[in-house]
Amino acid sequence: MTSHVLIFDTTLRDGEQSPGVSLTPSEKIEIARQLLRLKVDIIEAGFPIASPGDFEAVSAIAREIRGPVICGLARANPADVDAAGRALSFAERKRIHTFIAASDVHMKFKLRKEPHEVLEAAVRAVKQARQYTPDVEFSAEDATRSSPEFLCRLFQAAIEAGATTINVPDTVGYIIPSEFAALIRYLKENTPGIDKVVMSVHCHDDLGLAVANSLAAVREGVGQIECTINGIGERAGNASLEEVVMALRVRRDCLDADVRLDATQIYRSSRLVSTLTGMPVPGNKAVVGANAFAHESGIHQDGVLKEKSTYEIMRPEDVGVPASRLVLGKHSGRHAFRERLIALGYHLEEGDVERAFARFKDMADRKKDISDRDIEALVENEVLKESEIWTLDCFQVATGNRSLPTGTVSLIKEGATVHEAACGDGPVDALLRAVERAVGADFHLQEFSLRAVTGGKDALGEAVVRVERDGVVYLGRGVSPDILEASIRAYLQAVNRWAGGFSARRGEAEGEAD
Ligand code: KIV
Ligand code: ZN
Repeated sequence: MTSHVLIFDTTLRDGEQSPGVSLTPSEKIEIARQLLRLKVDIIEAGFPIASPGDFEAVSAIAREIRGPVICGLARANPADVDAAGRALSFAERKRIHTFIAASDVHMKFKLRKEPHEVLEAAVRAVKQARQYTPDVEFSAEDATRSSPEFLCRLFQAAIEAGATTINVPDTVGYIIPSEFAALIRYLKENTPGIDKVVMSVHCHDDLGLAVANSLAAVREGVGQIECTINGIGERAGNASLEEVVMALRVRRDCLDADVRLDATQIYRSSRLVSTLTGMPVPGNKAVVGANAFAHESGIHQDGVLKEKSTYEIMRPEDVGVPASRLVLGKHSGRHAFRERLIALGYHLEEGDVERAFARFKDMADRKKDISDRDIEALVENEVLKESEIWTLDCFQVATGNRSLPTGTVSLIKEGATVHEAACGDGPVDALLRAVERAVGADFHLQEFSLRAVTGGKDALGEAVVRVERDGVVYLGRGVSPDILEASIRAYLQAVNRWAGGFSARRGEAEGEAD
């Protein structure tokens, strides 16, 4: 009989540890709502001790999201477990995930602990976590470079202390599928009590093997896979949820396992996570890349036209890729717009619908046809933003190959308008300098990217910036039919995050070892 594998999504925890990524609490809630629609089994909502923002986000998700288990991460020490327990106190179903490193290199150099001390800390942490919830997960960090005999002893002790899920992380993405399968088999055969708990895997992608390793473990009968949307995460990332899920669906014949997930929400989840993290999805990314269902060569196109299954092993609609239709124009009314938002899967509050509609009307005046992709870009970049301190009133730029680019901007703050002008190396530089003058602060532009949301000369431009000030990095995004306006909007979002005190800096706890 086909078994069900639990999908443990760690986009909001390990995914958020991707270099350069820092989500605000409201963005995390938005992603959690989408994970609910996707029907993942467990949402790892964050690492509560890491920062007040993390604590707040985990508590807010625990209060609001009903259905999936909400999980908080904790190192194997009393303060971490206590923070996770408190952050989760209002969850309908809660899990504490506690971990400690088990490899010689981590125990000796990072923890400076003997194996027996690691074992004792694990037992203490699991027992403490059990005081908050009967659902406790224990992970042996760097398991794939640990002694298998020690892992068996550690896991046995964690199970006896009350752990209900035992996780085997390939923390540094080192193992290869045949070795991982053998390790899982060994642990199953040699750990007393392991048959009474759920066995889980958590694979990193340093060698591009995270999904392959996760699937090898499924073939050995593990009951949970930890993964992230778009495969984001520490360094090269984690196993990608969409790839794991679609491999299980498409190759059920050989993997003999399924998931309870709603795969038609995959595309929307991928778009949302990409937009809010500012991490683009490569065109050739499996399942969710722009080219995943595109056929370029004549032979392939001919085959697909005759019979789709010649070159398609899954259909775009299976993962919710919308057929890109031209849906709305400047004569479309509020009602049609609201209907389109619902059809696209957005559940916006009334005020947000109004804001989105105002931006839509503005766009429709400047761009003839508005497609589903344009609406997605508009909502994700412009509507799901935290409240703005500075807003753009208008701008102007004079540029040319023989003149000094000069930009002027008018920004509004608390009803008052501030006008400023500046020269720069190009029109974007001039405008962003003018913004800096208007807000009275300088930033270091670390990253700037611009892409067209759809094809055509009147495509929307989407700008993403990362700016740094006083060692803190702020992300900003903006869309507009005008790429200069998109750039200013993106810059302003980053500035607003700085002005609003949203810090991308993490709490002290994250860097500590035990
Ligand atoms: O990669 C890892 O080992 C982790 C653990 C906290 C599970 O993320
Ligand atoms: Zn990890």
